[in-house]
Formats: sequence, C-alpha cells, structure tokens
Amino acid sequence: MKNFARIIGTGSYLPPKIVTNFDLEKTLDTTDEWITSRTGIKERRIVNNESTCDLAVPACLNALSMAELKPQDIDFIILSTTTPDKIFPATATMLQNRLGASCPAFDIQAVCAGFVFALNTAQQYIENGSATNILVVGSETMSKIVDWNDRSTAILFADGAGAVVLSADNNTGIKYSKLYSDGNYLSSLQVNNNRINELGTIEMEGNEVFKIAVNKLSDLAEETLKECNMTSENIDWMIPHQANIRIISAVAKRIKLPMEKVILTVEKHGNTSAASIPLALDIGIRDGRINKGDTLLFEGIGGGFSWGSVLAEF
Ligand SMILES: CC(C)(COP(=O)(O)OP(=O)(O)OC[C@H]1O[C@@H](n2cnc3c(N)ncnc32)[C@H](O)[C@@H]1OP(=O)(O)O)[C@@H](O)C(=O)NCCC(=O)NCCS
Repeated sequence: MKNFARIIGTGSYLPPKIVTNFDLEKTLDTTDEWITSRTGIKERRIVNNESTCDLAVPACLNALSMAELKPQDIDFIILSTTTPDKIFPATATMLQNRLGASCPAFDIQAVCAGFVFALNTAQQYIENGSATNILVVGSETMSKIVDWNDRSTAILFADGAGAVVLSADNNTGIKYSKLYSDGNYLSSLQVNNNRINELGTIEMEGNEVFKIAVNKLSDLAEETLKECNMTSENIDWMIPHQANIRIISAVAKRIKLPMEKVILTVEKHGNTSAASIPLALDIGIRDGRINKGDTLLFEGIGGGFSWGSVLAEF
C-alpha cells in the first residue's frame, strides 16, 4: 500500500510590527498608490530584533498542536530559509533544540521556492517509509537582506513564518510534485555578496523577474494539472507564493482558475519568501475556507531561478 504524505497540521507566526506603504512613503521616493497598483501590497510585517528561528518556533508549535503531536513524535525537521540566523549551524538545528525535538534537522535554500522544495523532500522520506511525521517549515527575516534605500525591492519583501506537519497516510495526501532549477538567471535576482563575511542586499531586475515568473509558473501549473489528469475545475484552492498580485492573477487566468479560488495574503504580508505559502495555507485553514478533502495546488518561484509545484488533497 502506498504511503501518502498528508498535511495534518499547520501553523504560522508574524512579527507584531506593521510597516504600511504610508510608512515607506516617509523614507522612500514612492507612494501607496504606486505600490498597491504594481504589487497588491498594502502592508508587511518586519522584525524588530527577532531571528528567523524566533519566528519559526511559534509557527511550529501551532502546527504541532493542530496535528496533536509532540516534538518528540517528529522524525525530521526541514526548514526552508534564505535568511538563516548563522552561516552554520543550520537554523533547523536551533529550531530542533528550541522545540525540544531530537530528530535530524536541516535547512533547504531555494529562496521563494524553498517551501515547495522542502515539501517535495519531505514527501520522499514519507513515501519511501523512512519517516512517519515531518515538520516542514518556511521562516524568513527578509528585512535583514533588503537595501532599505532601494525603492524597487524595499517595498516587496517582509518577514514571517509558516509550518506544516506532514504525516504518513494510506489513503491520500500529496498526489504530485515537480521541481525545476535553471541557474542561467543569476543576475536577475540575487544577493550579490562574493565573500562569506560580507553582508549583501537583494538586487533584482524586476521586469525580467516578473515575466519569467508568470511564464514558468503558468507552464508548471498546466503541466501539473495535465500530469494529474485534472483541469482547474478540480482545484479547490490555489495557494501560490505571494510575490505580486499581478503574477498570481496572470497564472490563475492562464489556467482558467477564478480568483475566488486563490488564497491571497500578499496585501497584508508582502513577499515573505519561503514562508509565504505555509502562511497563506494556515490562514485559509484557520478561517474555514480550506476543508478536509479539498484539492490544493501550491506553486512558487525564486532566485536561481528555482520553481516547483505540489498538488495535494488536504
Ligand atoms: C518590481 C515591480 C513591482 C516593478 O514594477 P514595474 O511595473 O515592472 O516597474 P518598472 O521596474 O518597469 O519601473 C517603472 C518605473 O517605476 C519606478 N519605480 C520603481 N520602484 C518604484 C517605487 N517603489 N515607487 C515608485 N516608483 C518606482 C522605476 O524607477 C521606473 O521609473 P522610470 O520609468 O522613470 O525608469 C515588478 O517588476 C515586479 O513585481 N516584479 C517581480 C518582482 C518579484 O516578484 N520578485 C520576487 C520574485 S520571488
């Protein structure tokens, strides 16, 4: 009998400090109108001095609580992050210690695609029988790698954490997942630090990233539906990486999915990189929109580029 990797718990956490577009108007040559119309973002959460691990801990505790599991029941912790608290050890090991777990723990770095890369990795351990319960986390303090004088990136990125517990299930769970990387696009989106002890900030060719994101994610959504013998009518909820409302709606339009079936958090969260998908998922579950048995389509793309999709029954 096949082991499916099924989501049995979710949790999220946002730092309390809210930075609105009007706040950014005070320090940058920008306007709320420009940011809202180009990105859909109205406000974002930014840490004061919390670390990536600090954000992950409450998100994980909430996910464990929904799953009715204890940290000791977890077989792996996989943390996707672009903003680890240290070069080493992996932030996942600090998280393991803070949670009181004792399993192997490691980080995955695929920027804004990190959460789908982590889900896909966890899926393999469960399907091959080497794990029963895995904590998959996305946690980011993107504000630490943003140049707050660069209006083209400072308006986009933000902080937060989301987590899911994946558990072995005989009947249903993740049905399909697919990952891609193409390292040709280094200069389109990167933190350009060449020395390990040099703290760089995000550099981005926004127009280029926009076009590539729409094309790659639309193609991948079509491919995912085709591989699953589905059309967008079979999808109850798309839970995309929350980079820009215009990227999300272009993809939804291409696969003929009404926007009412898309979980959107970009307006209030901004782009929290690897945290954005589990944050949106947790919000959709806790407010009652996403229910057991729903078919969910996750998609994300990030620097590299790396991109991926996961189709799952909840
Ligand atoms: C960044 C992004 C919002 C810019 O929107 P855009 O419509 O492409 O705008 P452009 O970059 O063409 O810039 C248009 C003008 O607005 C200006 N501008 C850029 N940022 C601005 C801001 N925050 N406020 C006001 N004006 C701004 C530019 O300087 C440019 O001015 P110019 O015409 O005088 O040269 C958009 O390209 C985008 O979202 N790209 C994807 C980014 C992304 O999602 N990255 C993460 C991927 S995981």
